[in-house]
Amino acid sequence: MPKNYHSFQEEKYFHRHAALAQEMQKSNLSALAINPGASLTYLTGLHFHLSERPVITLFMPDSHPVFVLPELEAGKTDSLPFEAQVYTYGEVPTNWSGVFRQAILDAVVGFGKIGIEPHRMRVLELRFLEESAPQTQFTDAGGLLSNLRMYKDQDEVSAIRKAVNIAQNALADTWSVIKVGVTEREIAAELTIQLLLKGSESEFPFSPIVQSGPNSANPHATPSDRKLERGDLLVIDWGARYEGYISDITRTFAIGGVDDQLAHIAQVVLDANCAARRVARAGISAADVDQAARDVIKASGYGDFFIHRTGHGIGMEGHEAPYIHAGNDMMLKPDMTFTIEPGVYLPGRGGVRIEDDVLISECGIEILTDLPRKLEIIAA
Ligand code: CO
Ligand code: CO
Repeated sequence: MPKNYHSFQEEKYFHRHAALAQEMQKSNLSALAINPGASLTYLTGLHFHLSERPVITLFMPDSHPVFVLPELEAGKTDSLPFEAQVYTYGEVPTNWSGVFRQAILDAVVGFGKIGIEPHRMRVLELRFLEESAPQTQFTDAGGLLSNLRMYKDQDEVSAIRKAVNIAQNALADTWSVIKVGVTEREIAAELTIQLLLKGSESEFPFSPIVQSGPNSANPHATPSDRKLERGDLLVIDWGARYEGYISDITRTFAIGGVDDQLAHIAQVVLDANCAARRVARAGISAADVDQAARDVIKASGYGDFFIHRTGHGIGMEGHEAPYIHAGNDMMLKPDMTFTIEPGVYLPGRGGVRIEDDVLISECGIEILTDLPRKLEIIAA
C-alpha cells in the first residue's frame, strides 16, 4: 500500500529503517544496539558526542526505535521524522541500569541475538546491555550496517559533491601562500582557514596533511615546521565535510622543479591513478581496481614503494566500505563512492600520491574530483 509521507525526511528514514529491518531478519537479529557515531546519524539524523553518559538506540525488525539517553539530551528526539520510544535517566549513575533494563524488556522480543558495531560499541554501554539481557548473545553487525551505508542515495551523493567542491576551492585560495621558505604548518593553517571559509563543517574528516621534501615519503605525517625548499615534492591531502559527508583529495606539487627520479615517480603514480580509474566500474571487483594501479607501479620497478591499498569508501566517514585492496572480491556496484589514491614513497627522498573521489554509476564511473593531476611546478 502506498504510504503518504509528510516530508522528504520521513520518507528517507522510513526507507532506511525498512532496509535495516530486512537485513536484521536475514541475520536473525532480534535487535540492533547502536551507540553514537556515523551509523546512528545515518539511521536517525541525530548527533551525540561520546561522553561518560551512555547513549544507545535500539532498532527492532518490527517496532519503532527506542532511545536510552540522559535527560539533558532528550530534547534532540523531539522532532524526529519517525516514531520512537524514549527512555531517559538523570544524573545519578546508580539508577541507569534500571532504565536500560526497562527499555530492553519493553522493546526487545525474544532476546536471541542483538547486533552491535564492535568498532563503535564501548564497554560502558555493553555492560548496561549485558546486565539488562543476560541471556542474549551480542554479535558483530558491523558488516550489515556498512552494507547499507555503502550505497549512496542522491542526497548523499550531492553532499559528497559539495564537499569535493569546498575542498577544491579551499586549495585554490591556499595557492598563493605556497612558496619556498613557507612551512608545512603555515600551509596547513591557511588550508584549514580556507576550508572553513568555503563552507566546510568544522569537524573535518581529518586535519589537512602537508608534507614536503623527505617528509612526503611518509604517507601520514603531520605538518611540521619544515620550510619548503627548491626541488621538493609537496604532498597535500585534505578534505571537507558538508551535511555530514566528506571529501578526501590528494595532489602532489613540485617546488621549482624536481630531479628526474622524482619527476618519473610522479608520472608513474599518475599512470597508476589513470589505470585504476579506467578499470573501475560496476561488475569489477575492488581487488581488480587495486591490481590495475599496482600493475603499473610494479612495471615501473617501484612496486615495493607503493605501501598502502589503492583506496577506501567515502561517505559519513573517511574510511568505510568498499575498501580497495588486494583480496577484496567485493563487486563494485552503482552508487558506491570511494577514493583512488595510489602513491610511491622513496624514503629520505620524497613521495607522490594522487587521490581522486569517484562514484560508480549505471554505465561506468564518475570522477567527482577534477583538479589537475599532472605534477605542477610551483615557481620558486
Ligand atoms: Co586522503
Ligand atoms: Co583517502
